[in-house]
Amino acid sequence: MPLHVVDHPLAQHVLTHLREKSTPPAVFRDLCETLTTMLVIEATRCLATRPLEIETPIKVTTGQSLSEGLAAVPVLRAGLGMLEPVVQLFPDVAVGYIGLERDEETAIARIYYSKFPELSNRFTLCLDPMLATGGSAAHAISLLKEHGAKKLAMVSIVAAPEGVQKLEEVHPGIDIYTAGYDEGLNPKAYIVPGLGDFGDRLYGTF
Ligand code: PRP
Ligand code: URA
Repeated sequence: MPLHVVDHPLAQHVLTHLREKSTPPAVFRDLCETLTTMLVIEATRCLATRPLEIETPIKVTTGQSLSEGLAAVPVLRAGLGMLEPVVQLFPDVAVGYIGLERDEETAIARIYYSKFPELSNRFTLCLDPMLATGGSAAHAISLLKEHGAKKLAMVSIVAAPEGVQKLEEVHPGIDIYTAGYDEGLNPKAYIVPGLGDFGDRLYGTF
């Protein structure tokens, strides 16, 4: 099932405080990191492992060790708020960047920067907190595929049905991990109820 809504009680608690408009940027950043940790743990459930023999203080035993490379690609600027927890969880992650910005009138995303590590042999997480019309995410995933990514997932804090539908149309079968599957979009293509402009709330640029 391509849409995964992480409904753990802690995830829903954190999401509610992220949505609250009085939450200041410093707290917003912390909550974003906590929620991203939970989403990324779910999104990486499919990572391959290999058996590893180790010695505990009691006896020799066989455990599991991660055997698949991981890449994380935040969509600037708001996706940057989701990067730190991924680097903390997976210190060997390779990081790329995509700069996309929506036109305020048309809500159409334009690219202004990109840089990628080798993606063809890594499970690639695209990090963008808001899946609204889906234009930015669809563009980002296309770029990742053009640069070799074969196994991909989208990680978004909040998703609108319109964005999920668009992403599934353009990239059928893509897994989407989110904590909030919201009602829809307002006339300015903001997610309802959403949490407002994620980048502005993250970086205090109101
Ligand atoms: C926001 C958000 C997504 C995009 C989602 O970025 O971070 O990238 O909008 O909207 P869409 O699904 O309709 O494309 P924004 O363009 O506001 O740029 P910013 O991250 O630099 O603030
Ligand atoms: N980008 C945001 O930051 N928020 C929205 O609701 C939609 C796009």
